[in-house]
Amino acid sequence: SRIVVLISGSGSNLQAIMDACQSKQIGGEVVSVISNKADAYGLTRAENAGIETCVLSHKDFSSREDYDAQLAQLIDSFDPDLVVLAGFMRILTPSLVQKFKGKMLNIHPSLLPKYQGLNTHQRAIDAKDDVHGVSVHFVTEELDGGPVVLQAKVPILADDTADSLAQRVHEQEHIIYPLAVQWFSEQRLTMEADYAVFDNQPL
Ligand code: GRF
Repeated sequence: SRIVVLISGSGSNLQAIMDACQSKQIGGEVVSVISNKADAYGLTRAENAGIETCVLSHKDFSSREDYDAQLAQLIDSFDPDLVVLAGFMRILTPSLVQKFKGKMLNIHPSLLPKYQGLNTHQRAIDAKDDVHGVSVHFVTEELDGGPVVLQAKVPILADDTADSLAQRVHEQEHIIYPLAVQWFSEQRLTMEADYAVFDNQPL
């Protein structure tokens, strides 16, 4: 399958997905990496892998609607089967989400539905949770609210900081995101109405 990845930063999840395509774990290829930030390190990762990159800066647009319309057109130009949000730090307009419904995945660093939004690691520590984690979900109009596909849990240790916890979560991200993309590429994973389906079982 043809995969377009959207990033804003380091792109370690992008790297994990590119590696999984390279090793044939994922039956597909990353055909383009799009960033809203010109200095995102993930762009360098993509270039090193010989993958086409595009920068579409939100600063060049006066409204979110205009930006997302251009973004949708850019994504479409690569004719993707799947759009992967990998640390793309933008809220998407409903019309963009609608356009890629059932073919857009996101990864969020919490055990959804807990801790939607930002600063998830600190919030889990502050709440004195003993378990934290990460979720891959289909993207719907509700921010961090779409149907969950896969989650991984990690312990929160007594001396954890947001950084040490984030690092533990990241290791799991790099396992579950390629796995979800693999399943999608094998057509084992779909979104029906407002829930996810894996091997014909509603999740
Ligand atoms: C990850 O923590 C992911 O859960 C969140 O953004 C971060 C991206 O990290 N959505 P990276 O750019 O893939 O290293």
